Amino acid sequence: MSAGLLSKPPASLDFETSVFNKEKINLAGYDEYIVRGGRNLFPLLPIAFKGIKQIGVIGWGSQGPAQAQNLRDSLAEAKSDIVVKVGLRKGSRSFAEARAAGFTEDTGTLGDIWETVSGSDLVLLLISDAAQVCLMSVALGSPFTFATTLELEYRSDIFGERGVLLGAVHGVVESLFRRYTENGMNEDLAYKNTVECITGIISRTISTKGMLAVYNSLSEEGKKEFEAAYSASYYPCMEILYECYEDVACGSEIRSVVLAGRRFYEKEGLPAFPMGNIDQTHMWRVGERVRSTRPAGDLGPLYPFTAGVYFALMMAQIEILRKKGHSYSEIINESVIESVDSLNPFMHARGVSFMVDNCSTTARLGSRKWAPRFDYILTQQALVAVDKGAPVNQELISNFLSDPVHGAIEVCAQLRPTVDISVTADADFVRPELRRSGN
Ligand SMILES: NC(=O)c1ccc[n+]([C@@H]2O[C@H](COP(=O)([O-])OP(=O)(O)OC[C@H]3O[C@@H](n4cnc5c(N)ncnc54)[C@H](OP(=O)(O)O)[C@@H]3O)[C@@H](O)[C@H]2O)c1
Repeated sequence: MSAGLLSKPPASLDFETSVFNKEKINLAGYDEYIVRGGRNLFPLLPIAFKGIKQIGVIGWGSQGPAQAQNLRDSLAEAKSDIVVKVGLRKGSRSFAEARAAGFTEDTGTLGDIWETVSGSDLVLLLISDAAQVCLMSVALGSPFTFATTLELEYRSDIFGERGVLLGAVHGVVESLFRRYTENGMNEDLAYKNTVECITGIISRTISTKGMLAVYNSLSEEGKKEFEAAYSASYYPCMEILYECYEDVACGSEIRSVVLAGRRFYEKEGLPAFPMGNIDQTHMWRVGERVRSTRPAGDLGPLYPFTAGVYFALMMAQIEILRKKGHSYSEIINESVIESVDSLNPFMHARGVSFMVDNCSTTARLGSRKWAPRFDYILTQQALVAVDKGAPVNQELISNFLSDPVHGAIEVCAQLRPTVDISVTADADFVRPELRRSGN
């Protein structure tokens, strides 16, 4: 069976910089250009922002607080006198949050949106996508910055979060937890063999040694289980991912986000439907129990079947992005690095809602919409195929083992910061309404 996607070469993107050191890296045979991140870049900030007196950061969701404080603190360290000012809509309850983070009206670092926009030489528009469809940021705190276009970045970003980064991984663990417990597995063990396995040992190993290291560490019996799961899950995952990519690319998905945003409020005689919770089911209560007795640093078991399904999902996403012409640095960022280094650690610390609901409104909505599609197709097709003893598609397995993406991930791993993201069990939601204290 072939995926039947047309192949385009990965986008070849170059950029000019007279301030930063541009490096050429080779990813799977393609030359790409990056700027390596690091604190050593701070002194270059005043040069990069030459002529700018004020940077306006508009919005205070998940991105606003992070970008505003990152810029303010980085510029202060570089002894720059550029002002970072936060702009919010009138009456916004985020004023109090921004003040608590040190942005105040008195110091001219907090104000109304329009006054902030008109007084700024550079603006980061970080309000929800339902209110605007525009975003772009340069993240000097990232492992590296790569070239892309707004169109390609928009597609891979919105698609990626519906796929392996948030929605799909949620669907995978729900489907597998149900399967394992229905087959008689103790529920604590089933949670460990699904969520903990993905957010712990699998994420850590991929992050530092790549995907093949996970596969190679399995026993012969484990490899067989992995291969059965991988083979049965690859095309079902690809089917939903393919549909999702095309919905994003043609604008349907963002339209659905805008419409969902309108349903948050009562209108046309119909009630308001704000976003509901996603971690109130029994599985996530089991998760709380597992975490409460988890020894510090425990990475959970490596369960081959879970690894097979998760890798099939990741590889199917990589293949879609590759065939749709995205560059390797973007593909790896949106399918591997963000997953294992940024997002899975949140689910590891406090469950699925903590991972999903600390992301943008667009991501939270998309994850809620697409997760059930992955859960359903895996349950209805992949797991049934395994139970029927469907033969393993050896071509899929050998393609996985020889995929050029593994070499490219290795190059990216060398650019990885030496410190891991730290999400502690007492970390709280960025959105005040979701915090434990509820304030
Ligand atoms: N590239 C990435 O990796 C990435 C990751 C996350 C987010 N993003 C993008 O960053 C942007 C912001 O996302 P986010 O998660 O920080 O926030 P969000 O939850 O999507 O939006 C929250 C902010 O939007 C403001 N807002 C909502 N409707 C508004 C309106 N009609 N007028 C003015 N302000 C309005 C809210 O104001 P109040 O404070 O007054 O409620 C709040 O400050 C989005 O474009 C998102 O897609 C990108």
